[in-house]
Amino acid sequence: MSPSKTVIAFDLYGTLLSTESISKELAKIYGDDKAQSLATLWRRYQLEYTWRINSMGLYRTFSEITKGALEHAVAETGLSLSAGDAEKLMKAYDSLHVFPEVPKALKAVKETPDIDPYIFTNGTRDMVSASVKLSPDLGPYADVFKGFITVHEVQVFKPAIKVYDDLLTKVGKEGEAGEVWVVTANPFDAVGARAAGLQSAWIDRAGKGWVDRLGDVIGGIRPSVVVSGVDEAVGEIIKLAT
Ligand code: LAC
Repeated sequence: MSPSKTVIAFDLYGTLLSTESISKELAKIYGDDKAQSLATLWRRYQLEYTWRINSMGLYRTFSEITKGALEHAVAETGLSLSAGDAEKLMKAYDSLHVFPEVPKALKAVKETPDIDPYIFTNGTRDMVSASVKLSPDLGPYADVFKGFITVHEVQVFKPAIKVYDDLLTKVGKEGEAGEVWVVTANPFDAVGARAAGLQSAWIDRAGKGWVDRLGDVIGGIRPSVVVSGVDEAVGEIIKLAT
């Protein structure tokens, strides 16, 4: 690749794909009342498990983590989960919807040859391929991406520094971290990228501004830009890069 190109590494779950959209599937099993809180709890434990297993120096795939987190969320809510329903819910994870502004953002990326776009995720290659192929609204944009970069090869989850170093190697930008942007709605990913020397654009979906303070604790680390959607992130990066 040309060394002058800017790389955008898009986080997948919670950034391009809405994990909230899974609550429709949960509603079919547990009813509307429980679905939203179960979806939130499931996501919470999914992330918490990645950080806990990192701390333990162990690794299991993101699908195994996701399944365990589902069981935890259901059990904590006092409900039960049949093997068939677990399978259905895990399958639903393969066909999540994108956030509404994502198609516009990916169109802009496609029309900008100076940008090399990748998906950059905790998910396994199988999960990402299925998500991209089966997501009704991400599928049509699959060819926009130069590749999918998953943490599976380094066997550790975000925000371990190894994950960001591996991203730089895989996109051919070792020693040029400032030309690589991580676009993410996950604060831990936005801070992790900056701590590793990359740029990050944080999507403020709740509209509450940057309230995460771990970056301050470790020495004034904040996202390079704070934006309201993936489209705005792409617009800012194109402005700065071209
Ligand atoms: C991912 C998680 C952080 O896609 O959502 O990497």
